[in-house]
Amino acid sequence: MISSSRLIEKVLLIRPFGFEGQMRLKDCYNFHDFRRMAKRRLPSPIFNYIDGAADDEVTYRRNTAAFEGCDLVPNVLRGVGDVDMSVTVMGQRLAMPVYCSPTALQRLFHHQGERAVAAAAAKFGTMFGVSSLGTVSLEEARRICDGPQVYQFYFHKDRGLNREMMARAKQAGIEVMMLTVDSITGGNRERDKRTGFAIPFKLNLAGITQFAIKPSWAVNYVRHEPFRLPQLENHVDMGRGAMSISRYFTEMLDPSMSWDDVAEMVQHWGGQFCLKGVISVEDAKRAVEIGCTGIVLSNHGGRQLDGSRTAFDQLDEIVQAVGDRIDVMMDGGVQRGTHVLKALSLGAKAVGLGRYYLFPLAAAGQAGVERALELMRVEIERGMKLMGCSSVDELTKENLRFR
Ligand code: LAC
Repeated sequence: MISSSRLIEKVLLIRPFGFEGQMRLKDCYNFHDFRRMAKRRLPSPIFNYIDGAADDEVTYRRNTAAFEGCDLVPNVLRGVGDVDMSVTVMGQRLAMPVYCSPTALQRLFHHQGERAVAAAAAKFGTMFGVSSLGTVSLEEARRICDGPQVYQFYFHKDRGLNREMMARAKQAGIEVMMLTVDSITGGNRERDKRTGFAIPFKLNLAGITQFAIKPSWAVNYVRHEPFRLPQLENHVDMGRGAMSISRYFTEMLDPSMSWDDVAEMVQHWGGQFCLKGVISVEDAKRAVEIGCTGIVLSNHGGRQLDGSRTAFDQLDEIVQAVGDRIDVMMDGGVQRGTHVLKALSLGAKAVGLGRYYLFPLAAAGQAGVERALELMRVEIERGMKLMGCSSVDELTKENLRFR
């Protein structure tokens, strides 16, 4: 006997109008393919939440374009039969030099959400993060992946919530505390304003139509456990009505957060502590002074301050200034193995991926994330061989020329 929800799903999945189109995971070879597949599957407000950025999205576009400002200069005949792409960053050994940056709301994109990303990270021996705005608890993610886990911390006005989140992360054995410092107020995300994207959900008419024409996403979503924000639920009442992410940042996060507050957090945490969202040399130096062990150069995927300089463009200057005292990482716009090679050549210790794994997650859950990480692993390995490098420390500035 087929259950009624199964029957409804089957009928809806016939997709009589072909709105979702046909695209298979095995047809995806790169970021753009995954993005296209995710776009077909996701309701437009959700796709645009992931894909969108602030204001005119100039920084978002520049993030990827920045990698084209320089060229790789390969060496040949170096005997590169075996390539070791492992790196050690903030005391964590990663089998590959990329990690899955913590991102919010993952179960909204695919019902497996953070569980899929944790499992894929475990399989590839790399680091991943759970966000304060994660939809699976940091403790559950910990049980799925025994590799290095980051907790992405938002500094809330509610100091009790901040204390509780730190204590939970400590208790769960999280290796790296990553404090986001570029989001003390909401970025101007006009796509979200137009679609009405909000959590849990607040949809305008256009949005509702989109849900209706993406039935497989909708059926899948309602058939699984309800949307939750387990990191926040003792403190934030999601039943009070829907809220945009921008409003969340503006109303809940503390814009008065200062270097003194963070110095206190670093002391209190007493372990690997990293700031995500540093762009200036001055801030990189201060991070060293207050005892941080890492910084992630990032402009939040272009989603906060449009017009901000890209992490890749700032990398050299910052590595020169503090690279011998703190682990410098970067994220933003990374779509190819060669982008990673360029960042490593300038001294990044590891490179964060965001949309690169979110679109595959949305497209196909854990299988999608695994395929994306495998493609990235193969691209990095191929690229290192073609560069004449058998280990990451052989990639240096000598391998790069700016145009
Ligand atoms: C965003 C946050 C939640 O960029 O990281 O939407």
